[in-house]
Amino acid sequence: MKTVTTLPELRTARAELPSPLGFVPTMGYLHDGHISLVKRARAECASVAASIFVNPTQFGPSEDLEAYPRDLPRDLSLLEAAGADLVWTPTPEVMYPPDFQTWVEVEGLTQPLEGAQRPGHFRGVATVVAKLFNGVLPDKAYFGQKDAQQAAVIRQMTVDLNFPIEIVVCPTVREPDGLAMSSRNSYLNPEQRQAATVLYRALTAAQAEYQEGQRDGKALRGTMETIITAEPLARLQYISCAHPTTLQELDEIGDDGALLSMAVYVGKTRLIDNLVLD
Ligand code: PAJ
Repeated sequence: MKTVTTLPELRTARAELPSPLGFVPTMGYLHDGHISLVKRARAECASVAASIFVNPTQFGPSEDLEAYPRDLPRDLSLLEAAGADLVWTPTPEVMYPPDFQTWVEVEGLTQPLEGAQRPGHFRGVATVVAKLFNGVLPDKAYFGQKDAQQAAVIRQMTVDLNFPIEIVVCPTVREPDGLAMSSRNSYLNPEQRQAATVLYRALTAAQAEYQEGQRDGKALRGTMETIITAEPLARLQYISCAHPTTLQELDEIGDDGALLSMAVYVGKTRLIDNLVLD
C-alpha cells in the first residue's frame, strides 16, 4: 500500500493502478463502517484507493473541527489490512491553497435535514468530494447509507457535473446494540454511550409500526419523538419521515417508501442515524 500527500505524487501513483479503481473518501479515525466500504471496493474493483482528510470547509464555526479525532498510523494499518492499494492524505494546504476560490453547490437536496441545521456543510462536502474525485479519478466511489443525505447530494453532483463515476451506497454498520458506528461515538462517556442507543430504538419502533401498516408520516415522527424525549441524556434536534429521493417531508407514505432520519444530541455530541422503509 502506497501513501501519498501531494497532487503530483497522487497522479503518478494513480497512473500505476489497474482499472477499475474503487475509491473510499473518509475523514479518518476509521471504524468497521469505513472498512466495510473498503472491503466492498476490494471485492468489486481491480484496485482500491482511500483518502483521509478532515475537511475544514464542511465544519461550521461552532463545530468540532479541532476536536475531531485523528489517528493516522492506526488508520493506515486498518486500510492496508482491508486491501487498499493507495491512500491519499492531503494537507489543508494541498486541498485549499491560499488563492482557492471555486465551490460546488448542490441546491434543492441540501436544503432540508442536515442542510437546514448545518449551513454550508454540504457546500464543503460537495466541493471536497469533487476535488477528491478529480485527484483520484476513480471508476466507482463508495459511500455509507449512514449519511443518507450526503450520499444523495454526491449522487446528484456526480450526475449534474458529468463525473464518469458510479456511486455505490453501502449499508450502515452498527454496534451489537444498534448504535450506528461513527468516529464521533468516541466522544461519548459510558453513560452517554448507553443513552445513544435511543436513536436506533426510535427508528426500529417506527419501522415496526410501518410494517404493521402505519403509513402516516406524522404518526411515525411522533413515535420516534416520544422515544427520544423519554431519554433524559438525549436532546432531539430534528426528526424526519421523508421521501427517499426528494427528501421532502411526507404526510402519507406511498409506493416509494420513506427515509426515517434524525439528529440527536447526547451531551455535546451530535449523532445522526436513519432507516429506509420500502
Ligand atoms: P466520514 O464521516 O469519515 O465517513 C466516510 C464514509 O464512511 C462516508 O461515506 C460515510 O457515510 C461512511 N460511514 C460512516 N459511518 C458508517 C457506518 N456506520 N456504516 C457505513 N458507512 C459509514 O462522510 C465523510 O467522512 C465526509 O463527509 C467525506 C465524504 C469524506 C467528505 O469530507
